Amino acid sequence: MRTLRFHPRRWTIVLTPVLLMLVGALILFAQIDMTGYWAFRVKDGGVNYFQLQQTGENVTSVSTGGRGGGRGGRGLTGTLRGGKLHLVSTFNMPAQGPAPAAGQAPGAGQAPARPPAQARETVYDGVVENANRIAVTVQTSGREPLRGTLERVTREETFPARIPPPDLRDVPDNGLARTPPMGWNSWNKFQDVFDDATVRQMADAMVSSGMSKAGYTYIVVDEGWSSGRDANGNIVGNGKFPDMKALANYVHSKGLKIGIYSSPGPQSCSGRMGGGYQGSFGHEEQDARTFGKWGYDYLKYDWCSAGSVYSSTREDNQGAYQKMGEALLKTGRPIVYSLCQYGMHDVWKWGAKAGGNLWRTTDDIADRWDSMERIGFAQIDIAGYNQPGHWNDPDMLEVGNGGMTADEYRTHMSLWCLLSAPLMAGNDLRTMAEETKSILMNPDVIAIDQDRDPKPVQRLSQAGKSEVLVRPLSGNAFAVGLFNRGDKPAEISFRWDALKFDTGLYGFRRLQAQDLWKHEPVQVSGDTYTATVPSHGVVLLRVSIASGRGGFGL
Ligand code: GLA
Repeated sequence: MRTLRFHPRRWTIVLTPVLLMLVGALILFAQIDMTGYWAFRVKDGGVNYFQLQQTGENVTSVSTGGRGGGRGGRGLTGTLRGGKLHLVSTFNMPAQGPAPAAGQAPGAGQAPARPPAQARETVYDGVVENANRIAVTVQTSGREPLRGTLERVTREETFPARIPPPDLRDVPDNGLARTPPMGWNSWNKFQDVFDDATVRQMADAMVSSGMSKAGYTYIVVDEGWSSGRDANGNIVGNGKFPDMKALANYVHSKGLKIGIYSSPGPQSCSGRMGGGYQGSFGHEEQDARTFGKWGYDYLKYDWCSAGSVYSSTREDNQGAYQKMGEALLKTGRPIVYSLCQYGMHDVWKWGAKAGGNLWRTTDDIADRWDSMERIGFAQIDIAGYNQPGHWNDPDMLEVGNGGMTADEYRTHMSLWCLLSAPLMAGNDLRTMAEETKSILMNPDVIAIDQDRDPKPVQRLSQAGKSEVLVRPLSGNAFAVGLFNRGDKPAEISFRWDALKFDTGLYGFRRLQAQDLWKHEPVQVSGDTYTATVPSHGVVLLRVSIASGRGGFGL
């Protein structure tokens, strides 16, 4: 057996390069000054920008805004020591607890108040590769660790220059969405953790489950599909979405339509590590052309980081949306335009002028009773702004996502249909329980939503936690919803003669009524109708004139 004998020359030869490398590394680490602009990129997970300041071994972020428009604060603080970076950031997540009082209406000029946020922590641990690149593992409480890189970037990339929005003018109506759009959107169930295969499976399930027969048409890919821009400035898909055109072709081959997502800002709201994906700022016409060329039929356009490049005035908000509205029209392709800016500046008053077919009126819905109730019942006063082609959007459906009871989901669906809200399912269509299907695909309830003559819903009465909502339907009929927002079953009534039918020449007619969730007729007798409504539940009726004359008089 050979033994390793000490041989001074050989050891010098072996050790010298190692020592040199070590010294070099020490010099490099000592030289690195992280002061400047950095992009934290996660493969297929978006990008987050930081402006950092280093003093000695201490590194902190400078809180001057920047394109990062994601949720919550971006404060980073920590150390760079011996080539090892350790930074901690605290940011806010929507709370899981109870939300503000029910019935709270969105405020004028402001996004409606969100539920109180909860602080979460993200820890970045990195190893310096060179002065411009640090390999980083990021760990957010309660989530899988992610690997990414911090790369030095320019100030201009971090803080894109403002481009003034166009002068305001009315965008011509695109003639689409004559009834509230119906479809499926990826966000509520998957956030940005989904891919091309998931979307294809959802299209398959939309057809095989009967959803498409029930009227659901659009498969909308929300945040998470883009990676950046190619050398010509064209927006491109990321590794999870390698071919957006092929995906559109697939969805079309199922007889469905497909939607895509972008932002008037430089990037979208919330990548997996708190940053965002590519937005359309400065590339609006180019992106609209790309979406058209790929065959997209619907665009959800989400404000997100736009506050970093536009002012907070209504003019800038409207101008930013008008810019894309005009760009979509120019493509010549029919593309439904969905505005998502959470109801700021009473968007229902100008969303149609910006070319919008629908506009979000509230902050994000969550799969909880308090969230759905707060949003849903706050929409009644603005229901008059609905008109064919232009709809209030109180956010997507949570039916089937598991956070509410069947009664609560029936309330959700009934309310959204009475409101003429877009019906964008937000659950996993591949694994729907029968109960979920029965809620999402109730044809009589959907018919209320899709009524060709969208008269606004009105509050007939409110007593404590009980509310009766009424909506005139075409064909001389009414939808009546008896809602119990309380914690115990409640008896709720309304007078038949509160429904102002067109009684024609004879002055009275016999009424007929159908319970749309029980699928059975309701006896029309006496002056009032009374039902025992379960806690957080609803009784939804369709009342119309019975054929023939006589009987119950009005
Ligand atoms: C915003 C929107 C949501 C969803 C997310 C994606 O919060 O309101 O509907 O699109 O962004 O980050």
